[in-house]
Amino acid sequence: MKTNVISKPNLIVAKNRQKEVTNFHYLDNTVSDFIKEYAKGKFYFIRTYGCQANVRDEETMKGILELAGFTLVDEEKDADIIIINTCAVRENAEDKVYGEIGNLKGLKSKKKDLVVAICGCMVEQPEILNKVLEKFPHISLVFGTHEIQNLLGYIEEVIRTKTRLIAVESKQGDVYEGLPACRNNKHKAFVNIIYGCNKFCTYCIVPYTRGKERSRHFDDIIKECKDLVDNGYKEITLLGQNVNAYGKDLDEGKDFSDLLESVAKLGIPRLRFTTSHPWDFSSKMIDVIAKYPNIMKFIHLPVQSGNDEILKLMGRRYNSKQYKDLVDEMKKKIPGLALSTDIIVGFPNESEEQFLDTIEMVKYVQYDSAFTFIYSPRFGTPAANMKDDVPYEVKSKRFIQLVNELEKSVSASSERMVDKIYDVLVDGLSKTDSNMLSGYTESNKLVHFKGDETLAGQIVKVKIIKSKTYSLIGELVNE
Ligand code: 5AD
Ligand code: SF4
Repeated sequence: MKTNVISKPNLIVAKNRQKEVTNFHYLDNTVSDFIKEYAKGKFYFIRTYGCQANVRDEETMKGILELAGFTLVDEEKDADIIIINTCAVRENAEDKVYGEIGNLKGLKSKKKDLVVAICGCMVEQPEILNKVLEKFPHISLVFGTHEIQNLLGYIEEVIRTKTRLIAVESKQGDVYEGLPACRNNKHKAFVNIIYGCNKFCTYCIVPYTRGKERSRHFDDIIKECKDLVDNGYKEITLLGQNVNAYGKDLDEGKDFSDLLESVAKLGIPRLRFTTSHPWDFSSKMIDVIAKYPNIMKFIHLPVQSGNDEILKLMGRRYNSKQYKDLVDEMKKKIPGLALSTDIIVGFPNESEEQFLDTIEMVKYVQYDSAFTFIYSPRFGTPAANMKDDVPYEVKSKRFIQLVNELEKSVSASSERMVDKIYDVLVDGLSKTDSNMLSGYTESNKLVHFKGDETLAGQIVKVKIIKSKTYSLIGELVNE
């Protein structure tokens, strides 16, 4: 198969953060006659790995494909277009993708016109892209995080010309408004407020794969949120790699606290936001969270490490004291606040003492939930060039120690909930037990309880009867 390369990624360009105005594009989503005709009776499948940004991108791709007339299927074997939406944040996320793409080879050999597409953060890395192209000749389309709006044009090109198409441009990035979305959930919605990241934490590939920080216009976000409220949505999560930086790149005189307040006033029953960076978290934001009952008292505040030297090497811009002071202020001003975090173990050359500072941080904060990771070198990031003399077995041992320490506060926070009644937004039937419903408390704890499936999308009162540490068992309270 011939290859048509429109663009390929370049990490030096990706790193570039010169002051460049963001272009805002307002799209009207016209579909070509060719695609309209082609899509008739054709099916698509999407698999998404990684963070909420990817999940939201999946919703946009579904929206674009549905608008063209394609129909979603649950299994790859029934699809005419397969899209694998990838994650690059750690090596194990990439390994899963290699397995998945490998498995599609057989399908492609049986169905010559099958379009196998790969997109997302993985292909924004030049080495990975080259490896993927070489290893998997059955891939027909590769596009990056900045190219999603062109999806239909690429599919048309691949089908018409029967060539393989590569379109992954490293750029600071624009903002596209008006793209359709096919949301995965009828009650809970993700709303992007800021794209990209300027923090360049030394271990992280995201600023290279997703471009610079660029906020959406305030009014565009409010309009999207208002539509969700009008359509009966119960929960909105405002999304960004660093939501607290919202507005800094705009000239609108609005920051994240203003946005949060305006969305809260729209009357959505539950408002959440993720992810927060401690460096950009202001007292004004804490005050707004404390003031509005519909802003959930749950903050995901990645700490990454509890040691000052490691935090400095990570480029996190705060030290352990500043992080603790921020947590203290949050807990003081927001009664009943639940905190969660991300922690990386085994950053290059992390000593036992430095690791123990992380354990100390975990004891201090008493997190309600946490995500823990073993450091994974990302080619092209500064940390990947650091010498690392810590054996993997030591990192694994520390990882287990950290998980055990975290479990104490997670378990205590779940135990404290037993015998009390909480509001739970019902998701629907539990994924693990179809006799049970599942949903989340305001503090983001997963609860399983017996009840009728028709309660999906409602906020109900549930009495917690048992803690299973990472989830809870409850029973419906009849009012
Ligand atoms: N290795 C391990 N964990 C990482 N994360 C980001 N980059 C890496 C890496 N190279 C973690 C951070 C971040 C979360 C989304 O993923 O903890 O907050
Ligand atoms: Fe990565 Fe740091 Fe940006 Fe988070 S804040 S996406 S960890 S660079």
